[in-house]
Amino acid sequence: MAGMNRRDFLKAATVAGLGLPLLPLARPTMAGTGGSVKPDHPVVVSSGNGEKAVKKAMELLKEGADPLDAVIAGVNLVEDDPDDISVGFGGLPNEDGVVQLDASVMHGPTHNAGAVAALEYIKNPSKVAKLVMERTDHVLLVGKGALEFALANGFKKENLLTEKARQIWLYWKGINSNIDDWFPPPLEELDEDVRKIIKRYFDVHGTINCCAVDANGDLAGVTTTSGLFFKIPGRVGDSPIIGAGLYVDNEVGAAGSTGRGEANLKNLSSFMVVEYMRMGKSPTEACLEACKRIVEHTKLPELLGDDGKPNFNVKFYAVNKKGEFGAGAIYEGGSFWVYDKHGARAVPIPGLYKKNKKRK
Ligand code: GLY
Repeated sequence: MAGMNRRDFLKAATVAGLGLPLLPLARPTMAGTGGSVKPDHPVVVSSGNGEKAVKKAMELLKEGADPLDAVIAGVNLVEDDPDDISVGFGGLPNEDGVVQLDASVMHGPTHNAGAVAALEYIKNPSKVAKLVMERTDHVLLVGKGALEFALANGFKKENLLTEKARQIWLYWKGINSNIDDWFPPPLEELDEDVRKIIKRYFDVHGTINCCAVDANGDLAGVTTTSGLFFKIPGRVGDSPIIGAGLYVDNEVGAAGSTGRGEANLKNLSSFMVVEYMRMGKSPTEACLEACKRIVEHTKLPELLGDDGKPNFNVKFYAVNKKGEFGAGAIYEGGSFWVYDKHGARAVPIPGLYKKNKKRK
């Protein structure tokens, strides 16, 4: 069988008259494995923009939904929301004004995963990522191939660049360089909400991560984003990379991240968070340990502030199989969302350091 995959083998076996039918390959069931460790109630965690996501996911978990279906339905609400400029429809575009989306999903019971990167025109990349997981033998599809896969599966092409995002992008193009021929429009000519965003633009970070454990102890997670604002076309962040922006191990827990994706790509940090939980650390301790590792590995001068600390932030969110949850960041501040037996609430994110002013 060297050099032959299972699909080739089935085909060859049928042609050779071995009696094996040419049927679709059996997929592992989505049914959970559960196990002896279970929370006493489902738990959902999400990033600071995840209020709607945790509420929707919990509603579905209480109805008995698979945890991956629950978290995807949760983040779909944010992907569809034009007011969230960091995710899905209305996300800020790349430097050419084109919205390119990244997403990944991971299902604990089957230890299966799917992802898309630099996907254009499709506002729910998390749904396409799930189809990559379910309908292909692959984990990650990118760019044109990801779009063609989505269209083949019935997704519709849409213009994802909202008027608000277009105005912000054009303003950025005008102020971005003094060696090209673009000038910014006068601020007073821009919509009020666009002006507000521009005024705080250098402080805006996006992406949504949502992870859950159901009452059976089964875990799942999703991360979806429009990525770094005004990125170089084709740039892929951590969100669609399994282990970087998301990781799930059904025996241990689930973790995901927002913030500077390049730091997670160089450290496989979400995998690290889950591994720290496997070693017995609480979700909060595990998130903060991963932050420490990123700090230790940040050596490039352009990524360090005058105080020698990273000039960017990364945040992690985690839940373990028992339903314990937590978050951690390099710089404290902001909050994440949790929904457990006590209801939905925003919880402050602890950090290694107090916020510094200059971040990327
Ligand atoms: N963490 C999101 C990104 O860097 O694209």
